[in-house]
Amino acid sequence: MIIAPSVLTADLADLGNACSEAIDAGLDRLHLDVMDGNFVPNLTFGPPVIAKLRKVLGDGPIFDAHLMVENAEESFQQYIDAGCNHLSVHAEAVKHLHRCVTAIREAGATAGVVLNPGTPVDAALEVLSEIDLVLVMSVNPGFGGQSFIPTVESKIRRLKEAIDTQVAAGGRPVQIQVDGGVKAHNIAMLRDWGVSNCVVGSGIFNDKASVADNLAVIRQALE
Ligand code: DX5
Ligand code: ZN
Repeated sequence: MIIAPSVLTADLADLGNACSEAIDAGLDRLHLDVMDGNFVPNLTFGPPVIAKLRKVLGDGPIFDAHLMVENAEESFQQYIDAGCNHLSVHAEAVKHLHRCVTAIREAGATAGVVLNPGTPVDAALEVLSEIDLVLVMSVNPGFGGQSFIPTVESKIRRLKEAIDTQVAAGGRPVQIQVDGGVKAHNIAMLRDWGVSNCVVGSGIFNDKASVADNLAVIRQALE
């Protein structure tokens, strides 16, 4: 199971050190929640902050950008230029999804499609052969610390089936990533459903314990 810490619930005023703490704990994929205040009712950071973060952290960590923005087709190159290795775009926010994910891959990054809890799985299935990851939102995007929505199970199971079929036919393997409300108490269940990549925000960055201690509890739940 890949665990991608979401920096949304970290101390954003001390982002470099928060990310270093996660990297030192053994997490090499950082989930960067980019919010534009339009697609979601919140604002975080954009390419300039990501570029600085890349400079501070060096080339090692994978930057997994979750673009909760309206204009990803026009702006995605800025995120690649800032040092992102992976870009996930929302099926609900991109007009020409096939064109957009293809362009992201041609520009040298891996590409993912994000599905909100109310979005049918078909949006991702139509482009499954063109992408590297499907990000299933298990909360409505915009805020950290929300509760996991259990009805995403059927969506995840349908995706897993479609991906297995694609791989059996010699096609591209696609990761299923889940984002929102993932904690030690539900992560093993997600693995059983076929999830291989979990975004964890408040379960990793919180006031209760260090990143390393929170991660140890999560890893234990997966044993
Ligand atoms: C929500 C973000 C998530 C989220 C994760 O819009 O995409 O990455 O903040 O945080 P937790 O794990 O606290 O739900
Ligand atoms: Zn996210």
